[in-house]
Amino acid sequence: MHRIRVANRHYRRSSMERTIGIGLLGAGTVGGTLVRRLIGESDAIAKKTGLLFDVRRIGVRDLGRSRAFEITEGLLTDDPFAVVSDPTVDIVVEVMGGLDPAGDLVLAALDAGKPVISANKELISARGPELIAAAERAGVPFLFEAAVGGGIPIIRPLSETLAGETVTRVLGIVNGTTNYILTKMADEGSTYAAALEEAKELGYAEPDPTADVSGADAAAKAAILASLAFGTWVGFEDVHYEGIEAIAVEDMVFAADFGYTIKLIAVCDRTGSGVSARVHPAMVPVEHPLASIRGPMNAVFIEGPAIGSLLFAGPGAGGDPTATAVLGDVIDAAREMLAGAQVAPRIMMSPGEIVPFEDVRTEWYMHLMVDDQPGVLATIASGFGQAGVSIRSVWQEGVDSQAALIVVTHAALESSQRAALASLEQIPEVLEVAAIIRVLGDES
Ligand SMILES: NC(=O)c1ccc[n+]([C@@H]2O[C@H](COP(=O)([O-])OP(=O)(O)OC[C@H]3O[C@@H](n4cnc5c(N)ncnc54)[C@H](OP(=O)(O)O)[C@@H]3O)[C@@H](O)[C@H]2O)c1
Repeated sequence: MHRIRVANRHYRRSSMERTIGIGLLGAGTVGGTLVRRLIGESDAIAKKTGLLFDVRRIGVRDLGRSRAFEITEGLLTDDPFAVVSDPTVDIVVEVMGGLDPAGDLVLAALDAGKPVISANKELISARGPELIAAAERAGVPFLFEAAVGGGIPIIRPLSETLAGETVTRVLGIVNGTTNYILTKMADEGSTYAAALEEAKELGYAEPDPTADVSGADAAAKAAILASLAFGTWVGFEDVHYEGIEAIAVEDMVFAADFGYTIKLIAVCDRTGSGVSARVHPAMVPVEHPLASIRGPMNAVFIEGPAIGSLLFAGPGAGGDPTATAVLGDVIDAAREMLAGAQVAPRIMMSPGEIVPFEDVRTEWYMHLMVDDQPGVLATIASGFGQAGVSIRSVWQEGVDSQAALIVVTHAALESSQRAALASLEQIPEVLEVAAIIRVLGDES
């Protein structure tokens, strides 16, 4: 096992001399930028931190691909386990993404006593407790500031600065692709398909955008945010998520008319019965700070009884912002290595009660198409009442013999809202449920 421990007394003398060996798993958007900066900005980093870094080994898939940094002999390998086991590598940075082989590589590095930095929300939201336990056993840090919000510092504030706050709610716009698409639709009346195409052209969306537009990417981040905010492990499988594919321009217009904008929101709540995390499009009141987060920007809004509310906003992705977050973790891990004592943050969480989505209270906006007959509204209201859902407001716009009916409910259990929805099937005058979008409010 390769462990580096430098005694405290040694630190003063050698901190400027000691070079820390870095091994990377992946050298794509984030990893490539990190290597370029570790090399190109080494003097500035040393001046500011007293640390010298040397990139010793990089694991990639395609050895022939051109890179954004100079490739010296032996630097690249297509065997990522060779990076982890390289005795000259002191700190391992996992920026390859995915579950396999990233998970086994991170575990192997931790088991070998090497600090690990990861930007991989998918891996952390799936195997967080196991990896954190491995790091604890080895007595080394496992840090992942870049996994949520890219360049926004949010993991440390949640796990350290706010450790004394009983955080009650975390709301996030944590996917830049979907926020870009929804901003385009709201501002310019673009259709979902046209906005997605433009996002692809500008590099804000992947050629296969499924993970982003389905809400899965945001769900992985919501799991991490909830786990850190509440100290209770919330895994990816605990997060209910829905995407933005069905959002229509028409509902953007209705939303604006009623003083809302539509955003893909991660909602993490602590209630008396446990914690919950969900991701879905939501009507956000225009005066809410998250309503002003536009384009590919990300933001996290934290609420607690003592702190009130806090907003963290910034670039949620991109090589440079994300590499800055990774670099901060690398510097922390290196400082700990040289100090020979725990310096970098430790993440702590324990199992707890997860409230299933059906038992979460939500408010609904429903866009119905109905036959414009007398008494339809009363029939709908009666079905909702029987399901335990009360209606907050109704707005109707006639289209010949049909009418668009916008119904906004008060907060009720998600299961009750679904029962109210099912009651509409019994009403022949309800021709179509054109849209259901949850409303962000005080759902308690
Ligand atoms: N991009 C962002 O803005 C951003 C923001 C926050 C977090 N992250 C996270 O950071 C991680 C990396 O993202 P990225 O955008 O940099 O990804 P990327 O551009 O696709 O780069 C992935 C890198 O990993 C290498 N790789 C993948 N699978 C491999 C395997 N099985 N064996 C060896 N090498 C392998 C690839 O090798 P080749 O180069 O040879 O293909 C590539 O260098 C992901 O977990 C992502 O979620 C990214």
